[in-house]
Amino acid sequence: MRPRDGGHAWGWEPDVLGRAGALIVAHRGASRCAPENTLAAFRLALEQGTRAVECDVRVTKDGELVVIHDATVDRTTDGSGLVSALPLDAIRGLDAGRWFGADFAGERVPVLEEVLTLVRGRALIQVEIKNEPISGGGIEARVVSALADTGMEGGALVMSFDHESIRIVRSLRSGLATGILYAARPADFVSSARKAGATALCLEWKSLDREVVAGARGAGLGVCVWTVDDEAAFRRCQELGVDAVASNDPSLLFRLAGEGADAPRGAGAGPDPGSGAS
Ligand code: G3P
Ligand code: CA
Repeated sequence: MRPRDGGHAWGWEPDVLGRAGALIVAHRGASRCAPENTLAAFRLALEQGTRAVECDVRVTKDGELVVIHDATVDRTTDGSGLVSALPLDAIRGLDAGRWFGADFAGERVPVLEEVLTLVRGRALIQVEIKNEPISGGGIEARVVSALADTGMEGGALVMSFDHESIRIVRSLRSGLATGILYAARPADFVSSARKAGATALCLEWKSLDREVVAGARGAGLGVCVWTVDDEAAFRRCQELGVDAVASNDPSLLFRLAGEGADAPRGAGAGPDPGSGAS
């Protein structure tokens, strides 16, 4: 994939932006209509026509990468415990779909390679490194290897609220697109991005203003926004001219952009995607 405008964000062709004028990213997959971070949610996002997905990644006790948002498996599976305290076999034995709806019973917590393989050639991906409450486990090197092994280095943007993690990722693979996440309005973001080696700022839509976008543009940084699930927030993103907009309901944004996507397919709206879903 050819970088846009010199490759300030991550490798995409201008035509993936569509009529929205920004890349629409399925946040945790199409997580309004399928259980977040499962293959069902990523498949549904692809069916809805998304050209990019977002996922969260954590390390298991035995050093494997699993796609799950929370530090524990409690909210999104029928098990309990810290992801970092459970081996992959135990996590793979859990049901990651029934909590959302009976139609999704039997969904599993995917490993990162499964998600990368599913989307390769069909969509770009934002991979969010989650390493709280305690960083470690060599997650950065494992993510870099997974992207290389699946041929997804050119189609991925690795991001994290842990900017040190991003610095490590870039030290391992300098060509990777990377983003530093902020949960509030960023200060000194150009210098933070430089220190981390980030190519993009990843901001909550509420933190967005003209100064931040102009500052990022001036520094050659991309601007990725999360999590946009209503028209007002989407219009603001369009007006300010951001690069990527993550939504739990990408089909809504396609409709708002006039792309004529169908109403969400799947079992209908399920529970709110939960903690951290804003
Ligand atoms: O896209 C970034 C966003 O996913 C960060 O927040 O809590 O949903 O992972 P969270
Ligand atoms: Ca995330």
